[in-house]
Amino acid sequence: MSDLRIVNFPHPALRWKSKDVNRIDAQLKNWIAQMFDLMYAARGIGLAANQVGLPYRLFVINPSADPAEKELEQVFINPQIIKRNGSEDAEEGCLSLPEIYGPVTRAERITVEAFDLTGENFAYELGGIHARVVQHESDHLDGVMFTDKISADALVELQPLLDDMTAQMERQQQEGQLASNDELLAELRRLQAERTDG
Ligand code: CO
Repeated sequence: MSDLRIVNFPHPALRWKSKDVNRIDAQLKNWIAQMFDLMYAARGIGLAANQVGLPYRLFVINPSADPAEKELEQVFINPQIIKRNGSEDAEEGCLSLPEIYGPVTRAERITVEAFDLTGENFAYELGGIHARVVQHESDHLDGVMFTDKISADALVELQPLLDDMTAQMERQQQEGQLASNDELLAELRRLQAERTDG
């Protein structure tokens, strides 16, 4: 597989319910390094594997969005949010929905378990932006986007932008710049079979 790129709504990878990866190897580490590069280039604070067309349960974050702050980088492999407390509204965006923002209600504090790049299991109690980005990225792994969670009123406002993105993707597919949905889905199934047990 060649270099990864961030896919935009409504690419079918963004609706894929990803399965746990069954090994951490050089290929996976290479993809994760590419995900950090793509995230920083797009000035994001989190990026999920679904957003680069990989059907695996993993995401990367750096709440500072600053590649110089390497110590704030975190990789979550096969993450599970095991506890949620409180509730908080805040504006969110998404690298797969450029220029689109809306208010999302999330748990204020969470406990998340995952594996890191070395295969060590860890658990964190998180709050603030850290808790929000982990919830947003975890949703991606289930094929859920933040626009699925905003109010009906907010969605009405954003719908024309989403419709434009759908039209743009259809145009790219008609012009042959992007594979058809059938081909994209076949590739997701192939990648899933390669390194999940699902
Ligand atoms: Co996102």
